[in-house]
Amino acid sequence: MHNPILIIGACGQIGTELTFELRNKYGAENVIASDIREGGEALMQSGPFELLDATNYSAIEDVVMHYEIDEVYLMAAMLSATAEKFPMRAWNLNMNSLFNVLNLAKDKKISKVFWPSSIAVFGPNTPKNNTPQNTIMEPSTVYGISKQSGERWCEYYHKKYGVDVRSVRYPGLISWKTMPGGGTTDYAVEIYHEALKKGSYECFLDSDTELPMMYMDDAIRATINLMDSPSEKIKVRSSYNLAGMNFTPKQMAESIAKHIAGFEIRYAPDFRQEIADSWPSSIDDAAARREWGWEPRFDLAQTTEAMLKNLKG
Ligand SMILES: NC(=O)c1ccc[n+]([C@@H]2O[C@H](COP(=O)([O-])OP(=O)(O)OC[C@H]3O[C@@H](n4cnc5c(N)ncnc54)[C@H](O)[C@@H]3O)[C@@H](O)[C@H]2O)c1
Repeated sequence: MHNPILIIGACGQIGTELTFELRNKYGAENVIASDIREGGEALMQSGPFELLDATNYSAIEDVVMHYEIDEVYLMAAMLSATAEKFPMRAWNLNMNSLFNVLNLAKDKKISKVFWPSSIAVFGPNTPKNNTPQNTIMEPSTVYGISKQSGERWCEYYHKKYGVDVRSVRYPGLISWKTMPGGGTTDYAVEIYHEALKKGSYECFLDSDTELPMMYMDDAIRATINLMDSPSEKIKVRSSYNLAGMNFTPKQMAESIAKHIAGFEIRYAPDFRQEIADSWPSSIDDAAARREWGWEPRFDLAQTTEAMLKNLKG
């Protein structure tokens, strides 16, 4: 039997699917979902749930003690586009929630932590193509600054206090069960919904904006593989580069048009274009492949097929 797991921010785009998968693997009662709000019906009915504010240390500690939690997956955060509108709220949430969980591990109240970073840790001065694991990181968004600081603190808590914290830099994630929560890559989910509803989509990024992306099944598999790997294999304690596929809005539209005849895309770039322009186009994830066996399964054509099939129901 697996030790009890707590997911904080379980009702979001990633948390929802992570909760389902961990419950499948370890049993519903062993996986406590929590969030500041209630989630979708399927999630709420799938096992134990606690209303929990990730910025409240003693509330998290109470839940950890009550359920004898051993591992925490911290998914609560304010994402890139929303964070540009509320910089201080984003900083408070993204940093305080991380300190709360790292400090629980430092005090040996939990033994393992997963905390996601993002391709937003990179900035306009980072090499754009095949961005290396270790490179220039000068993020120009509030979100990216919080993720880069978070990475440094994870590494520090591991070196200084022996905290077993593990992390990946997720690219933009594409999923059908839950809508995305205010990121710069949200177009890559919205487009499928609009394609099925209206046969057209107005994209908030320009046609040739190439970004690293990943289908959610790959992201969940990567997360659980990383957490299951023996500690000595995990050499990177800031965060691992993780790659799935790269494409532009134009390429995505072409892949949808193969299934929906006459699908049309228009481009109306907004403030998110500047954020996207500061991020890599593709990622070198050799360290994750070498150290814990990472390998993606979904390319753009397979993602489009899976998205359209599942959204049609
Ligand atoms: N989705 C992506 O494409 C992507 C890419 C890179 C990194 N990430 C990272 O992965 C993590 C999860 O992202 P997501 O896409 O699922 O985000 P999301 O916005 O869909 O979900 C975040 C969840 O956190 C909850 N939350 C907000 N404030 C909270 C608080 N104070 N206490 C408890 N819960 C709170 C929200 O209610 C929401 O359910 C974040 O750290 C994000 O930065 C996501």
